[in-house]
Amino acid sequence: MSGTIDLVPPPVASRAKTLKAETRETHERLDGSIMAGRPFESQERYALFLAVQHGFHRDIEALYANPALDALLPDLAGRRRFGDIERDFADLGIVAPERTEAPAFGETADIPTALGWLYVAEGSNLGAAFLIKAATKIGLSEEFGARHLAGAPEGRGLHWKTFTEALDALDLDEAEEARMIAGAKAAFGRVQGLVGTVFG
Ligand code: HEM
Repeated sequence: MSGTIDLVPPPVASRAKTLKAETRETHERLDGSIMAGRPFESQERYALFLAVQHGFHRDIEALYANPALDALLPDLAGRRRFGDIERDFADLGIVAPERTEAPAFGETADIPTALGWLYVAEGSNLGAAFLIKAATKIGLSEEFGARHLAGAPEGRGLHWKTFTEALDALDLDEAEEARMIAGAKAAFGRVQGLVGTVFG
């Protein structure tokens, strides 16, 4: 002991909760636009939703192999869903859309920004419990066509909890926190843009 008081840092209000509050409106808008596109009316319409997911997960694919993120987040590689989306397309006998634009992230990434994007990807898997129920009505399942909507083997809730706990434990300064929030908003914006293009 040096004689100084060892101050415990003030608890950070849950980052996941902050992110949720900051993106509530954009999530609602996105949810509304996707459902307006009737993605669970038929497998043909579901393929449009799959194309949106494909575009988004292609953007973040490189993040799952990023060593800096891997050091911060539990089971990062296991959270990757791009391969499942490609298999979903194959199940449906549809060729995944070809994209020419560069993905949002390459080999290197600004970590706080990337965390915001990953929050959106992980959160969408929590909401996917609802989507997979709708998908079963058009003959899809975790083993066919809707693989990417499956929950983690240990359960969606626990998988989400380990992610948000890791997020909350990170030491971010104010500027980094702002970049993380901006990253989450950019991710939602990207998905909203894809919905606009794909569903028309
Ligand atoms: C029709 C489409 C969608 C519906 C109906 C929907 C529904 C939901 C629901 C019900 C939850 C809450 C789950 C829970 O707390 O147990 C949720 C969470 C979430 N969803 Fe969606 N979702 C949709 C699409 C998306 C998409 C496409 C994304 C992003 C790519 C997304 C991102 C999120 C995020 C980040 C959360 C976590 C919010 C939190 O911090 O608790 N959602 N969604």
